[in-house]
Amino acid sequence: MSEAPSNLANFAPRVFSGIQPSGGLTLGNYLGAIKRFVDMQGADYETIYCMVDMHAITVWQDPGALRRNTRELCAGFIAAGIDPEQSILVNQSQVPEHAQLGWIFNCVARMGWMKRMTQFKDKAGKNAEQASLGLFAYPALMAADILVYHATHVPVGEDQKQHLELTRDIAAKFNHDYDVDFFPLTEPVIEGAATRVMSLRDGSKKMSKSDPSDMSRINMTDDADTIAAKIRKARTDPEALPSEAEGLSERPEARNLVNIYAALSDQTVAEVLAEHGGQQFSAFKPALSELAVEKLAPISTEMARLMEEPGEIDAILARGAERARERAEPVLKKTYEIIGMVR
Ligand code: AMP
Ligand code: TRP
Repeated sequence: MSEAPSNLANFAPRVFSGIQPSGGLTLGNYLGAIKRFVDMQGADYETIYCMVDMHAITVWQDPGALRRNTRELCAGFIAAGIDPEQSILVNQSQVPEHAQLGWIFNCVARMGWMKRMTQFKDKAGKNAEQASLGLFAYPALMAADILVYHATHVPVGEDQKQHLELTRDIAAKFNHDYDVDFFPLTEPVIEGAATRVMSLRDGSKKMSKSDPSDMSRINMTDDADTIAAKIRKARTDPEALPSEAEGLSERPEARNLVNIYAALSDQTVAEVLAEHGGQQFSAFKPALSELAVEKLAPISTEMARLMEEPGEIDAILARGAERARERAEPVLKKTYEIIGMVR
């Protein structure tokens, strides 16, 4: 799959990414996604960041919790440094063009492609017969989220790589079937020291808001004592830190903590090891806690403040929806024309 050559030279650069409001934000979301979203702001292209509520309901969401989580995610974006003037901040369900294009992509994507999606297998688990149809179709909606804006670049964590390959396959098949060069073959942007932050309890599992153990993750809303306690109890091995990155290759837990340190401090792994190589975890963990609290506390304080003004958050999302629809509407209209829908 995804052998199609790039057509991006024909499209204005535009960045899109999304996060599900299906629970609190974790350090994985922050380092793998939101921090990168902030870094990509401010250049001479547009950035659109979306709370993908339609994706969230592919598994059951309590309505009150969904509402709260959507607002909290918006607060998290802003607290972390997304400027709602510079970027478009929007929740997916306020832009119906996502779902409309999503249906068309359901008719472009092939069953065989969808069946290969590892996230579906992970999330549906042994009980795939009881999973929602939406959970299975989800990656076609994700392709629509991106392509309804003709987005060219999508910053995400490592776990979304396969979905972005599918997005390219859908764009390429549409372009081929209708003999057009209408949808860009979007590039994933998977960069930085923490594209896959792992569980603090198990270095082979990714840090996730759905892990049953709260000790496995750092939540953006955790206070300083909780962050320190979780890092203190994080699983490690008995060795000291190596002074070169190669020394971490067989040590997933140690590598994870060093990656987190590097991403939080905007350093490379080599730079972190130049400073901390030779240290025991009894020394490195407190340094990591201090850094994490220093970086995360201002964000969680600001999130809490913003959450006291839900009306303001809703106004930001309404304004974002207006701006987003201005961009999505013409793309959907043109898509309908291409496929022969009478308007
Ligand atoms: P989700 O919470 O599944 O909606 O993920 C939102 C964004 O955060 C996506 O770009 C994910 O790739 C990223 N992300 C989620 N968990 C992690 C993790 N443990 N490490 C790095 N990135 C992550
Ligand atoms: N699938 C992503 C996740 O689970 C969320 C998502 C939905 C997304 N639509 C997107 C990410 C579009 C990037 C672009 O994390």
